[in-house]
Amino acid sequence: MEVVSTTGELRTAVAAARRANKSVGLVPTMGALHEGHLSLVDASRAECAWTVVTIFVNPLQFAANEDLSNYPRPIGDDLAKLRLRGADLVFTPTDDEMYRIAHGTFVDVGVVARPLEGAFRPSHFRGVATIVLKLLNLASADRAYFGQKDFQQTLVVKRMVADLNVSVEIRVCPTVREADGLALSSRNAYLSPDERRQALAISRSLREAKAMVTGGERNAASVLVRMRAILAEAGITQIDYVVLADPETLENQSKISGPTLAAIAARIGSTRLIDNELIEPSPEP
Ligand code: PAJ
Repeated sequence: MEVVSTTGELRTAVAAARRANKSVGLVPTMGALHEGHLSLVDASRAECAWTVVTIFVNPLQFAANEDLSNYPRPIGDDLAKLRLRGADLVFTPTDDEMYRIAHGTFVDVGVVARPLEGAFRPSHFRGVATIVLKLLNLASADRAYFGQKDFQQTLVVKRMVADLNVSVEIRVCPTVREADGLALSSRNAYLSPDERRQALAISRSLREAKAMVTGGERNAASVLVRMRAILAEAGITQIDYVVLADPETLENQSKISGPTLAAIAARIGSTRLIDNELIEPSPEP
């Protein structure tokens, strides 16, 4: 496994893979790798001859009051995991390498970036779209892999790729969870044992929404009341949103008539967690 940290080295390695007629898969990450990230590496390796993983804690997608400086950076462990998993190249640039002094171009994706995460983290998706486009350009990948865990991010990336005619296929892989339901996240490392127990109410609430909707409930308000009650019973009070939304437009749904995204963002202590479930309602009787 090759590890490089300059854009020049990355381009040279990509060119060599291309000359060897290898298809290229890209897995962008911010490191602190867990099985969720590694499942994306597996998916890329299953479809592409050459897999590039990027590890870059992108300052542009963090607001001033967020956890940029505390974000975990266990680079030695990350590289060991990627070596075991069979990544071909890892790109670990510095901030200066990605954002040179006069960097002045940013990607604003528009409506799909506005609600949910966009409402609570107003500059977040501008930062995500800008870095993802840079990485797609550098890796000139055939396919790029993202997790459903960050559902809105997958919509933002797909919209950008379609609008800016980027030649890449975007693949969305299922959310990897702990046995008890907690979605894997690099930010879980911030949770105390008590907070971790509390955090379980998020996936429990989403599972309950799924059970209600697949069981025939069509009234979103009834489902939302139950979802909020589960969070409240666990003592989760700092809720950014609990929604049932159209999975293409992210508009709130009042009557559930087709596929629905149930999504939650909440703070457990000082840790902000997000999770979601895509729900297919059972056919009308
Ligand atoms: P990061 O949070 O490190 O996540 C990297 C990728 O792993 C994302 O596509 C994310 O959705 C996926 N992922 C995280 N947890 C997952 C889980 N439990 N199951 C499956 N996939 C999971 O998302 C980012 O980084 C950044 O915004 C990035 C796209 C790298 C741009 O900076």
